[in-house]
Amino acid sequence: MSPGSSIRISLKINGGDHELPIAACDTLLDVLRDRLGMTGTKKGCDMGACGACTVLVEGRRIKSCLALAASCDGRSITTIEGVGGVDKLHKLQAAFIRHDALQCGYCTPGQIMSGLALLEEKPASLEAIREGMSGNLCRCGAYPNIVAAIAEVAGL
Ligand code: FES
Ligand code: FES
Repeated sequence: MSPGSSIRISLKINGGDHELPIAACDTLLDVLRDRLGMTGTKKGCDMGACGACTVLVEGRRIKSCLALAASCDGRSITTIEGVGGVDKLHKLQAAFIRHDALQCGYCTPGQIMSGLALLEEKPASLEAIREGMSGNLCRCGAYPNIVAAIAEVAGL
């Protein structure tokens, strides 16, 4: 199959079914943002270095700029749009606000998705949170507050 050839995939995103044709070389990030209009997932570096594009696939966090959409065929995906909304924030989102864990907000969807996956791993210390979040960069330098927000939800 050539990289540009078209294939049909089906994705379950935030509980909804989406079937669509894609190019074999399309990344999951580009399909989410450009084909499905789910722009909550951000594109930062587009090369796996910043974590802005983090989503959950079958509950595990991945950098969606590095994942071929074709490799996610039939999988269950959670994006920031599936986590909470203005009317009903997830407790981690509420903690981010309480701890002022963002400035420009561009990295925040990725931080939240990564933080949710990390919480499932039950981090036992602030150091474990720092280590677990090391794949998510924040150019505004909100790191101490991000760690504090996750720590609150983790009960540390
Ligand atoms: S946009 Fe995917 S890691 Fe930076
Ligand atoms: S809040 Fe601006 S990059 Fe993190």
